[in-house]
Amino acid sequence: MFVNKTSNMKLRRDIKGINERVLVKGNKRRKYIYFDNAASTPTLIPVLNEMEDYLNWYSGIHRGTGYKSLISSKIYDDCHEVIGNFVGADLSRDTIVFVKNTTEAINKLSYRLQLQPNDIVLISSMEHHSNELPWRSKAQVKYAQFDNNGKLDLNNLDCLLKRYHPRIKLLAVCGASNVTGHINDVHLLAQMAHAYGCKILVDGAQLVPHQRFNMNPGSDSKHIDFLAFSGHKIYSPFGLGVLIGPRETFMNGSPEYQGGGTVKLVFKNEVFWSDPPDKEEAGSPNVVGAYALARTLAYLDKLGMDNLAKNEEELTAYTLEKLRALNFVKVYGSQPRVGVISFNLKDIPHALVGAILCFEAGIGLRTGCFCAQKYVRYLLGVKEDFEQLQFYEGNEIDKIPGMVRISLAPYNTREEVDHLITWLRYIADNKYEFRRRYKISPVQGGYIPLDILNKEYIKNVYNHYMKP
Ligand SMILES: Cc1ncc(COP(=O)(O)O)c(C=O)c1O
Repeated sequence: MFVNKTSNMKLRRDIKGINERVLVKGNKRRKYIYFDNAASTPTLIPVLNEMEDYLNWYSGIHRGTGYKSLISSKIYDDCHEVIGNFVGADLSRDTIVFVKNTTEAINKLSYRLQLQPNDIVLISSMEHHSNELPWRSKAQVKYAQFDNNGKLDLNNLDCLLKRYHPRIKLLAVCGASNVTGHINDVHLLAQMAHAYGCKILVDGAQLVPHQRFNMNPGSDSKHIDFLAFSGHKIYSPFGLGVLIGPRETFMNGSPEYQGGGTVKLVFKNEVFWSDPPDKEEAGSPNVVGAYALARTLAYLDKLGMDNLAKNEEELTAYTLEKLRALNFVKVYGSQPRVGVISFNLKDIPHALVGAILCFEAGIGLRTGCFCAQKYVRYLLGVKEDFEQLQFYEGNEIDKIPGMVRISLAPYNTREEVDHLITWLRYIADNKYEFRRRYKISPVQGGYIPLDILNKEYIKNVYNHYMKP
């Protein structure tokens, strides 16, 4: 595979805070390694510069008079098009609605589809809670199962579509899992759903940041009807989420949030709604968040999403090879995948591994169930069991089922991965010593070291940013 490293080197140089050092064992400082990109990505210096510049012209928008309001209104409105174009939305058919994040986008859709209690929403068994719970409260949810390789079982999916259509109103699937990084062939799934007259929502939270995504506009049966994703997972942590879907869906009925900005005319007994997206964006909108995401996507376009994806693919393959060479590590999930990798170490609680890597190796990652409890239990072979609630409530985090998750981005490096691997070996070789040196803190809900002076350090950094 030919990999052009220029784009990821540039990306790395432009990451805000890439050289930040943190406290590690021995009262030393080490350059922080961030392997939690699936949660939120850092931001980009060139975009921050553009934002600072634009803020000179920032203003309240729509219905304002004055040049700043006129310019800001046009910028905000045009950001819809820029962001829609980035994911290949059909601008003649679709509305691009700005919300807070993917969770809000999916919740909004769950209201706007006007589902009836007997309707069915079909989801995969690997969904994030944000693409499961909104549906459970509005309709009946059926779960498509896995095949023996841990992929979505297409025969099972087809059987469900056949058995339950036309009651199935939506197939809602993630583009990529936030647990295993597994990529679903969403365009094939779209074709299957459309064959039964059913629409598809892609939860793009973990796919859009990693690969060039195209909704396949037009009449192609592989087109994606609805797409949701979050700015903070694609280098733009300024509170903007995106929901894209056919304008007609949002023309029907009333929006779930109502108020300023959503209406054309209000009479005592009658309301005439604005056209979408205004109708769906109640209250004063997030102008700065929209600008930041639009400029971030323009930056990524310039670097080339395909280049970045190739770099990430190569780093992911390297990491998997290194992890699989460790006989005390179990890696979950199957190909194809983005750079999200979950694993466990033999005989060491996932939360303890995370704490050691945080406090001693200077690595930021995540442990637990990653808001996908049913999927994680399935992968671990753990039954649904209410006893687990005791573990949560008693802070017995060593007993809570879970995993360690690293999530890579193209700006991460092989050297960073090597550092992780060295530490995993060290942890496995010294697991009894580490168990003695850490305790569970009910206040922090995690393991903390007994012998590292991190409390004072955390207080100092906090005070720097939250000056009294
Ligand atoms: C696959 C997936 N869907 C939805 C979400 C929810 O995203 P947000 O927290 O931005 O609403 C996440 C967050 O991690 C995710 O990974």
